[in-house]
Amino acid sequence: MTAGERRGRFIVFEGGDGAGKSTLSAALAKRLRGAGRDVVLTREPGGTRVGEIVRTLLREHLAPWAEAFAFVAARAQLVEEVIRPALERGAIVLCDRFVASTYAYQGYARGLDLGALRAANAAATGGLEPNLTIYLDIDPAAGLKRKAGEDEAIRTGLEAVEFHRRVREGYLRLISASAPGTWLRLDASKPAAAVEKAAWEAINDA
Ligand code: TYD
Repeated sequence: MTAGERRGRFIVFEGGDGAGKSTLSAALAKRLRGAGRDVVLTREPGGTRVGEIVRTLLREHLAPWAEAFAFVAARAQLVEEVIRPALERGAIVLCDRFVASTYAYQGYARGLDLGALRAANAAATGGLEPNLTIYLDIDPAAGLKRKAGEDEAIRTGLEAVEFHRRVREGYLRLISASAPGTWLRLDASKPAAAVEKAAWEAINDA
């Protein structure tokens, strides 16, 4: 489905752990519904029964490519079952994470081959691309603290922060290589209301 065939709009939220994606996407869904729009709010991995099973599978100690394909498998199911039908009927789909998460986490941070990851994602999604991806940018150490609480962040230690720095670096590279107007980078350390306002304006322009 190309952008031309698509009736709805597909908005994706990306960011490091603890950046506030789920709070933001829920707030925007509420506002869009209040404005009378047909909205589907979903998330990865998950959003379908198969996706939730994959979430359980991801708790196992998976080999790097097994992990990558588990994320891609959940995505293929979500596109087929939820995203594509919603776009075809003209809904606005808000999705917490999509292909860019795999590029940032499994590609840039974990070191898997990006070309292979791109090919797998293109096959799994039928080449579906978001109209807009909103990236919530947060300092990785602050994000980990927000997500896990301070004690946990200290326990997960420097290695985790280093990994998340590579994730952030990956996102920034994806943004700098993207077509104009396809990504919006927002400073997630700003007050939630300001972040929501900027995202709301961008969605209405997308
Ligand atoms: P989740 O509990 O949904 O966290 P978050 O609130 O940060 O989205 O867990 C998703 C985790 O899975 C998160 O650490 C990012 C990671 N992930 C990947 O590594 N690759 C992917 O393709 C996706 C979708 C997520």
